[in-house]
Amino acid sequence: MSWRLFDPAYALYERLLRNEIVASGSIEHVAVIQDGNRRYARERGLAKQIGHSLGAKTTEMVLDWCLELGLKHITFYAFSTENFKRDEEEKRYLFDLTTRKFEELYSSKKIYANRVRVRAIGRIDLLPADLREAISRVDEATRGFDNLFLNVALAYGGQGELVDAARALARQIREGRIRADEITEELVAQSLYPYDGHPVPKVDLIIRTGGEYRTSNFLPWQANGNECAAYFCAPYWPEFRKVDFMRAIRTAQAIKTGRGQQA
Ligand code: FPP
Ligand code: MG
Repeated sequence: MSWRLFDPAYALYERLLRNEIVASGSIEHVAVIQDGNRRYARERGLAKQIGHSLGAKTTEMVLDWCLELGLKHITFYAFSTENFKRDEEEKRYLFDLTTRKFEELYSSKKIYANRVRVRAIGRIDLLPADLREAISRVDEATRGFDNLFLNVALAYGGQGELVDAARALARQIREGRIRADEITEELVAQSLYPYDGHPVPKVDLIIRTGGEYRTSNFLPWQANGNECAAYFCAPYWPEFRKVDFMRAIRTAQAIKTGRGQQA
């Protein structure tokens, strides 16, 4: 636990940020590239699995912060199509960890009390069966909820998502359900993940931890064309704090209301 938690000035700053965020309410959808788990572990002489496990704890805390701040959507990049290139042992660990996290979400009172809709986005069919089952259980259990949408990107790639949307639209043309000239931005947006009638909407803010300045094929359609802010920060994902999260949101809000850096 950080000493900062006991620092009254820090607590005051945190409260101030929280009040400003809640009062403005202009950021509805935050997407997070949770990066730096292995570097966090390596620099402390720990196994990379510990880095991932601590990273998952940060993910859980961020969910609490979203509820507290009244966000509508949070989308985590948990496993990219690129991540399939990692060694078998690490992939197995990540899939087991994610399966456990989905099982915990399924049995968490917090999810039902706060009406959190839990979904996965990506090429889910590429994931191991136990993980797919855990996803589908919580997906079905939370189907009617709409207070906060928790979207977990797994086996996800932004270009792949657009390819899948193009294939779905081509199928509809072939079946005579639409004509090619009826394809609009809205129709493409409706053809994106997941396929439950409520596609992941436009993103207001992408946060990336771990000091990398790239958005890495994450939500290209949802983040472009709508003034999405990008916030890159140095902390590794396991050490990402509430104040980092709130600072990112405040920065995006300031850009939106014309008080931040202009392009
Ligand atoms: C990036 O750090 C992190 C990942 C590829 C895995 C992220 C997954 C979790 C935190 C599990 C959360 C899942 C749920 C459903 C709660 P990295 O491995 O690229 O580390 P590095 O950049 O230091 O190499
Ligand atoms: Mg990384």
